[in-house]
Amino acid sequence: MASPLFAHDAITTKLTWTQEISRLVYRHCAGCHRESGRAFSLTTYADARPWAKAIRDEVLGRRMPPWGAVKGVGVFHDDPSLSLPEIDSFVAWVEGGAPEGDPALLPSKLPAVPLAVASVTRGAALEVTQEQTLQRPVVILALRPKDLRDRQSLEAWATRPDGSTERLIWLKDYRTAWARDYLLRSPVRLPRGTKIHVSAPAGASLTLLTQ
Ligand code: HEC
Repeated sequence: MASPLFAHDAITTKLTWTQEISRLVYRHCAGCHRESGRAFSLTTYADARPWAKAIRDEVLGRRMPPWGAVKGVGVFHDDPSLSLPEIDSFVAWVEGGAPEGDPALLPSKLPAVPLAVASVTRGAALEVTQEQTLQRPVVILALRPKDLRDRQSLEAWATRPDGSTERLIWLKDYRTAWARDYLLRSPVRLPRGTKIHVSAPAGASLTLLTQ
């Protein structure tokens, strides 16, 4: 049931808050958007409905959930990004009038707040500015941007001695508030002689956390 405030919006979607959207929000957003969380609550229909159009814009712009790394470059642990079908669901729900649906279908409880993100503490850290040739083979476990400022971008890739190239990470519109290590889903092994390239504004660099 739409609240009276939005009664003029015609409902043209079968997607509802209680069935599909609350589950997406619980999985991807409620870790921060909850009572006493890092951001305003989106955990109930009454909380979320006034934000419907902003939710559509934030997920379409891939600004929410905040992550920073462009999808498709590197495969990382804990990547909270929405899939295209999930983004489509948010958009269709909002543009279809953001209906509530049957309260009996709501998921039973909020998931626990996700644990703090893991970090890599063992191994060696190798800081790369612009370009560096590896003097020994390395196994990269995680990537950590250094001195990258708000709204800046950083791109890094590796060129092996055989000429093959591997894109490591692409951070776009960086937000220092979300600073974190980007843990690779599978370690990247690079032989001696590999050239690491980092394209970033002056002063910024990328730290490779290795085994
Ligand atoms: C890691 C924490 C976190 C997660 C996860 C997260 N958000 Fe946010 N969100 C924030 C914070 C903090 C703000 C406050 C503004 C800012 O700092 O960008 C915000 C702001 C917003 C805004 C307001 C933007 C504006 O108009 O100013 C919307 C809408 C939003 N989030 C929707 C979502 C949705 C939808 C999801 C899940 C798909 C999500 N967020 C996941 C932390 C988060």
